Amino acid sequence: MQAQSLRLNAFGLDNIALTPVDVPEPGPHEVLVSLHAASLNYRDLMVVLGIYNPKMEFPRILGSDAAGIVTAVGSAVTHFKPGDRVATLFFQDWLYGPFTPTTGKSGLGGPIDGTFTTTRLFPEHGLIHIPGYLTDEEAATLPCASLTAWNALVEKGNLRAGQTVLVLGTGGVSLFALQIAKLHGARVIVTSSSDEKLQRARALGADETINYRTTPAWDKAVKDLTNGIGADHIVEVGGSNTLALSASAAAFNGHIYIIGVLSGTDGPGLDPRSALVKSLNVHGVYVGSRAMFQRMNAAFSLARTHPVIDRVFPLTEARAAFEHMQSGSHFGKIVLSLQ
Ligand SMILES: NC(=O)c1ccc[n+]([C@@H]2O[C@H](COP(=O)([O-])OP(=O)(O)OC[C@H]3O[C@@H](n4cnc5c(N)ncnc54)[C@H](OP(=O)(O)O)[C@@H]3O)[C@@H](O)[C@H]2O)c1
Repeated sequence: MQAQSLRLNAFGLDNIALTPVDVPEPGPHEVLVSLHAASLNYRDLMVVLGIYNPKMEFPRILGSDAAGIVTAVGSAVTHFKPGDRVATLFFQDWLYGPFTPTTGKSGLGGPIDGTFTTTRLFPEHGLIHIPGYLTDEEAATLPCASLTAWNALVEKGNLRAGQTVLVLGTGGVSLFALQIAKLHGARVIVTSSSDEKLQRARALGADETINYRTTPAWDKAVKDLTNGIGADHIVEVGGSNTLALSASAAAFNGHIYIIGVLSGTDGPGLDPRSALVKSLNVHGVYVGSRAMFQRMNAAFSLARTHPVIDRVFPLTEARAAFEHMQSGSHFGKIVLSLQ
């Protein structure tokens, strides 16, 4: 069957198109992967709409992460063989150590072509084995949303049992943060615009829930739930319109992970005084490295953690998948089936 890629030819949902691609031969250090599933990240929507990088060059194959099966390997490849089940690294060149300007240029579906394609070559170092208990759809959700939540809470925040984690909303990153926090013995408070979603969050282990629509002063609600102390860790996916409330909801010496911009980029942001008077730790988080991914997989494998999948769309219905994300009605991850 002819391989196909979902390409963005200009900004806007009207300009995504399935395009035939040639199946290349792997070079010495390359691995050819038949991709079975990819997940949708809010970033992919920002890329399509021209918000992520207004200067991006076209055409660009979309997609931040995927999972599939190795079909061929180059002569010098040592870690993979045909038949291996693999997932992709979001930053293809971030293997270990700190984030650098160079590794930042290797992000799939942004600076370089992405994963919404039925087959693709990867450098050997840009792949990782999938934990055996996960389906391809589940594994495809790990490289971006899950690793971001893991990097924040575990790698940067050194989350400890008994601490309180505040998770904003019930999208992909946030539900992974909930699962990771429970794995570490934390108390988790989840906010959402929907009471029905909050009930589902409780079923996943959330200890406390707040509807941020009906309780706009949710920072005060967090303090009420923590004897006036506030949350030790805040997974900040909202951005400039939620940051001030997040700082208010934080405990002294708490951690705020700057991850997303779901509430927009034109709000008041973070008043430096609110960070300094509480001695807050404010971390920028940009996905994570291969070494972090390995540590996350080990923890998930032991606990048999399953990602929360909202809905699976075929690649031919990618536009509907993007529109579903735009609607904000999803709970957890939206996945594209690529085969
Ligand atoms: N820095 C990184 O490395 C990194 C990695 C991944 C994602 N991100 C960013 O993180 C954000 C989340 O990504 P995602 O893929 O998880 O998105 P997503 O799955 O589309 O999450 C959408 C959900 O976020 C919640 N939400 C929307 N506006 C909100 C607000 N003002 N306050 C609180 N919650 C709000 C809503 O939950 P309810 O319906 O429950 O209200 C909505 O359903 C995006 O901005 C994305 O670009 C950054």
